[in-house]
Amino acid sequence: MESRRILLAISGGIAAYKAPELVRTLRRAGHEVRCAMTPEAARFVSSLALQAVSGETVRSDLFDAGEEGEIDHIGLADWADLIVVAPCTANLLAKMAHGLADDLVTAVLLATKAPVLVAPAMNVNMWSHPATQTNLEILRGRGIRFVGPDSGELACGWEGLGRMSDPGVIAEAAAIELVPETLAGQVVLVTAGGTAEPIDAVRSVTNRSSGKMGFAIASEAARRGADVVLIAGVTSLETPHGVRRVDVQSALEMRDAVFAEFEAASIVVKAAAVADFRPIEASDRKIKKEQLDEGASMTLELVQNPDILQEICSRKENRTIVGFAAESHDVVAAAQRKLARKGCDLIVANDISRADAGFEVDENAVLFVWPSGEVEELPLLPKTGVAAQLFDRIGKLRDSGDS
Ligand SMILES: Cc1cc2nc3c(=O)[nH]c(=O)nc-3n(C[C@H](O)[C@H](O)[C@H](O)COP(=O)(O)O)c2cc1C
Repeated sequence: MESRRILLAISGGIAAYKAPELVRTLRRAGHEVRCAMTPEAARFVSSLALQAVSGETVRSDLFDAGEEGEIDHIGLADWADLIVVAPCTANLLAKMAHGLADDLVTAVLLATKAPVLVAPAMNVNMWSHPATQTNLEILRGRGIRFVGPDSGELACGWEGLGRMSDPGVIAEAAAIELVPETLAGQVVLVTAGGTAEPIDAVRSVTNRSSGKMGFAIASEAARRGADVVLIAGVTSLETPHGVRRVDVQSALEMRDAVFAEFEAASIVVKAAAVADFRPIEASDRKIKKEQLDEGASMTLELVQNPDILQEICSRKENRTIVGFAAESHDVVAAAQRKLARKGCDLIVANDISRADAGFEVDENAVLFVWPSGEVEELPLLPKTGVAAQLFDRIGKLRDSGDS
């Protein structure tokens, strides 16, 4: 990878002792690295060590005229191609979420236009505290990316989530953040989340899709410079940064929204879990229990929903179309049948019988099933990682003109 400019922002947690190693790892990958510290970080790692490994003056004081002379906080914010915050304390996470700028690091983070990658590190209870989790969601919604924390023995004596990721893993995540805007000028249409098929005024038939996979895909496409339209079904997720969102509920609404956006799209990724069936009729009033005899059963008659993937594939032209298949058994065979039936360029299949992957969780273990019959099995990855792998494949497919 070409040399890029990385600003490492270090805050006051125990894991700051790993910062010099991270600087060395990033420099070994060929990058220019500068360090900025919060005043508290200096209690955990010496600026001398960071200066020695980075070969640059380490900055920590917002108001130090000497430091500010050549490169002030705005200069540093503009200089960076990427800012890596490692370790990121609970305190710094909160300040970032709320736009505080009372020291050099927070001022740089507020002033920068560069992508920001955050490696949190803290006690397990600080991490799981609702305040921290809310701050995390706020920052994710703004396009801030996260690596870790990992689970394990913590410096404070507790076990659990909160360890900063290893410097090598952070450096790999930084490399992913520095991907060029290969999708500039492309319109990418992504569907995500489950649908809700109405039974009556208050009830619906839905499924367990959280939308996390599709949202990660939309976010990745935006990061690669695409104009992204995200058609979101039932989900509680925040809109990813730089993405235009259209909310829908039922499969029929999803279909209308897809066709409203389809013409302009060059890449379509259908990650939504669209219901195959809907109640034949939905009462516009709440169905009351008293309408039934005591103990009587009730039958819900279902009809098939339109097959949106099949419909768009029949109008594919030179678009790249990717479908998803959530299967509980015979995953590969089911995905291959789906691919052949619909005629899309790629099926991303996942085995929903695994507890550690698929619905609701942040990680996914997927298979890429190709029309050639080739099946690529990816390891268990964060959904952001699956999204990155997907667009790497889509890029190759479009470069080769095979889609
Ligand atoms: C020994 C010690 C270790 C600490 N480790 C962490 C930590 O790993 N993560 C964290 O969020 N806060 C940790 N703290 C608390 C932070 O240092 C404190 O919130 C501080 O205000 C953070 O400042 P900063 O975010 O501006 O760097 C630690 C405090 C002490 C005294």
